[in-house]
Amino acid sequence: MQKITTDFLDWVKSHQDNIETRLAELLPAENVAPEKLHSAMRYAVLGGGKRVRPLLAFAAGELVNAKLEQVAYAAAAVELIHVYSLVHDDLPCMDDDILRRGKPTCYVKYDEATALLVGDSLQSLAFQLISQPQFLRNATAQLQMVNLLASASGSYGMAGGQDIDLASVGKTLSRSELESMHSFKTGALIKAAILMGAYCGDHVEKTHLIQLGVFADRIGLTFQVVDDVLDAEATTEKLGKTAGKDAQNNKPTYVSLMGVGAAKEFAKKLHSEATQALQQFGEQALRLRQIADFIVYRDS
Ligand code: IPE
Ligand code: IPE
Ligand code: MG
Ligand code: MG
Ligand code: MG
Repeated sequence: MQKITTDFLDWVKSHQDNIETRLAELLPAENVAPEKLHSAMRYAVLGGGKRVRPLLAFAAGELVNAKLEQVAYAAAAVELIHVYSLVHDDLPCMDDDILRRGKPTCYVKYDEATALLVGDSLQSLAFQLISQPQFLRNATAQLQMVNLLASASGSYGMAGGQDIDLASVGKTLSRSELESMHSFKTGALIKAAILMGAYCGDHVEKTHLIQLGVFADRIGLTFQVVDDVLDAEATTEKLGKTAGKDAQNNKPTYVSLMGVGAAKEFAKKLHSEATQALQQFGEQALRLRQIADFIVYRDS
């Protein structure tokens, strides 16, 4: 494990500020019609969250010397899809949660129909951003990104994983079924964040993309395993979302499958596999390694 240095914390803060500013500029103003929808979109996206997916995109961008301004677009698009997934995840027809990022969930603050439309609109905005001609001026790379983000969000990615999650309530999944569900619902978007950051570079070697893909698969799964552990162990106050919700909703998780201790050990094993995949990048992958450490050792 790397040491969490002040230098890393400064890097995180400056990139979190960057993405916050970018998102605030890109989201529709709340005094523009339809005001309620725009206000709800801003409520859901701004002023909260760890911004892990944007940070991963920025770190992957650094690896290929991509321009920060350009990576910020890709990072914002992934965060918009992520927030859309959270807004829908909290709906009564899904996890039925009232707290998110320390605030009432979107449907509680507004209403269910608005929350549904917030998700729809954030998804469209994400694709609007990365399909703009002025984003990269490299149509092939942009198309690859659109394709990547679309597959990571759809029925072979996040939405598919959410469907499996809901269909699995009250069931005991095998280890491989659980791994597949987690990789779909959470891993796919995390992988997209990393690869999109890399696509912002002028030239990326195919072998590098493959290694980054291995890292992304492992760290994406790690993220959800740790989320399962925190749901069981952390407090609502610390998480900013209702703790103990998985057990309450009878969800199969790594904690229900193997217990907290074994789930933590599994997360560490995945983390080590992930960081091994970065070996060939040397010092240039420092930020990716540090974020990987943060993902495993975080407390919220
Ligand atoms: C929570 O994601 C939902 C999962 C996919 C596990 P995060 O833990 O990244 O949530 P925020 O963005 O920091 O609120
Ligand atoms: C959510 O998983 C994954 C997505 C939103 C795609 P969870 O249901 O475990 O996320 P939290 O714990 O509510 O953030
Ligand atoms: Mg859920
Ligand atoms: Mg949930
Ligand atoms: Mg969870």
